[in-house]
Amino acid sequence: MLGVCYYPEHWPEAWWAEDARQMREMGITYVRIAEFAWSRIEPASGRFDWAWLDRAVAVLGDAGLRVVMCTPTATPPKWLIDAHPDILPADAQGRPRGFGSRRHTTFSSASWLEASRAIAEAVAARYGAHPAVAGWQIDNEFGCHDTVLSYGAEDLRAFHDWLRRRYQDPERLNEAWGNVFWSMETGSFDQVSLPAGSVTETNPAARLDFQRFASDQVVAYAAMQAAILRAHSPGRFITHNFMGRFTEFDHWTLGAELDFAAWDSYPLGFTEQRDLPDDARALFVETGHPDMAAFHHDLYRGVGRGRWWVMEQQPGPVNWASWNPVPKPGMVRLWTWEALAHGAEVVSYFRWRQAPFAQEQMHAGLHRPDRVRSAGGEEAAQVAAELAGLTLPDGAPASVALVFDYEAAWVAGIQPQGADFSYVELCLRWYEAARRCGMDIDIVPPGAPLVGYAAVLAPCLPIVSEAARAAFEAADGVLLFGPRTGSKTAGFSIPPELPPGPLQALLPMRVVQVASLRPGLRHAVAGRVTGAMERWREWVELGAGTEALACFADGTPALLHAGRAHYFAGWPDAALLNATMRYILESACLPLMDLPPGVRLRRRGRMAFAFNYGPEPWAAPDAERFVLGGRTVPPQGVAAWQT
Ligand code: GAL
Repeated sequence: MLGVCYYPEHWPEAWWAEDARQMREMGITYVRIAEFAWSRIEPASGRFDWAWLDRAVAVLGDAGLRVVMCTPTATPPKWLIDAHPDILPADAQGRPRGFGSRRHTTFSSASWLEASRAIAEAVAARYGAHPAVAGWQIDNEFGCHDTVLSYGAEDLRAFHDWLRRRYQDPERLNEAWGNVFWSMETGSFDQVSLPAGSVTETNPAARLDFQRFASDQVVAYAAMQAAILRAHSPGRFITHNFMGRFTEFDHWTLGAELDFAAWDSYPLGFTEQRDLPDDARALFVETGHPDMAAFHHDLYRGVGRGRWWVMEQQPGPVNWASWNPVPKPGMVRLWTWEALAHGAEVVSYFRWRQAPFAQEQMHAGLHRPDRVRSAGGEEAAQVAAELAGLTLPDGAPASVALVFDYEAAWVAGIQPQGADFSYVELCLRWYEAARRCGMDIDIVPPGAPLVGYAAVLAPCLPIVSEAARAAFEAADGVLLFGPRTGSKTAGFSIPPELPPGPLQALLPMRVVQVASLRPGLRHAVAGRVTGAMERWREWVELGAGTEALACFADGTPALLHAGRAHYFAGWPDAALLNATMRYILESACLPLMDLPPGVRLRRRGRMAFAFNYGPEPWAAPDAERFVLGGRTVPPQGVAAWQT
């Protein structure tokens, strides 16, 4: 099903009914509203103006649309900030980040929590039982604009409380952080400072705990709003729109508070803005990288425990990347079908109409500011028409699992050890290599049950929890662990038995030395697979029962295994990664394809889909019945067939 993000407060009221009619005519079912409307809902403290929003909900409902109502806490109005300046977040230098855009809040401010509770209660009480309201979005994009970590007085106070709960005694904190180093020992929790503003690097253990604390604050904030909504709006769903390529809080934990996950998919913005090899960016600037949206679809299907939406789908150029190209013709349709193929229940476009004013006036919508349908709008209408004639089957578990861990991202970010060691990029590369072999992938949290997966990929998991260790040991498929796995304790120290720490029972080996490799420095690998490590390599000593499958020039293992558990001792170049992925998936007895760089497949039950992000047509397998497109999938084209 399709949806759209709509801002009635941006348009003359005389337009609303016609907009709603056109939405229905176009095949749109859901309409998300009000996430930034606080200053219109409560223009002054305690003075509510519901009349306009009541009328907007009625107009949309009367047209047959189902409303996704939001709590407007991403944009607290000026009167609230003036009354409680402690709501403002602070940067790492402790300076307040001011009013004038959005998300100008810290999750630790007591006044902010109180104000959030009050507005969430008010909106929930007003619309919780409204027949047009199908469900709720809490807030908007937690963490957007770098707003998870805040370094003000309120944050320090809350961090002290968190540390007190975690460690009880300052001696335990000193021990856990290794504070004897550089005389960092503390005599009380109140002496602890925030890990910023020091002469040189602060203690990585302190930074990891600060990140855990900040993540817990976001989750507690979402849980607080969810409880209010559940009380006032029984039987309606609660979701949140997460972001792409964002790891500042633990989405697995927050997802547990929701009925399903949603995320905001901007494939061109992400391809332009996030770290990708230059050749990949050059190929895909106007289509998006073929794994960028898909990776997040699979991630958020996991976060939503099988249920998820795209809440915001890019409909044309965005305004926020360094360069903002127009998507190639066909891409808006392709992205929509791809989300549906990965199991999205709804794909909702951002936004109905391009705003002619304010910060996002250069951001496309399904309509131009002059109310004429945009190119992206035409493609959305095409998908709606195509969907009308199709029943999509339920999805099934994939045969490959990729373990994705927020703490791993924090550890690698806090202590990269090499300037280009990016956790998310490593995960994306592994994901890409498996999908080039035609695989469907489930993305799962560490500790999730792994029984039934033919292959399990853990690109990098520095802290291996007890639950994660047990799940890996219980897995019945082929396992591939990547660099730095098991390299840290929960307290951010090197494990006494050396990496991979708790995985040594499964993989008898020890990492005795590591190197980061500057661009251009490559360590060749030969054996069952060949290529080179770049960015990162490790020196491994083998234990009893462990065997090298490929080695570096100095004879130390680069790919090794003990039974079904494999370890990959570095950051592979494309040749080595692709060869290793094929080797692993073949050992898992999976049927492999060899897809071109721009083509990807995805099955949804007995329906298979092909997506062509590349410049050449692709010939799909001979199939009995194509339900979308045909055997030749043109550039920017989609095909689907029954299997
Ligand atoms: C999202 C956000 C929207 C809008 C959009 C523009 O991150 O949730 O409100 O700003 O980006 O691409």
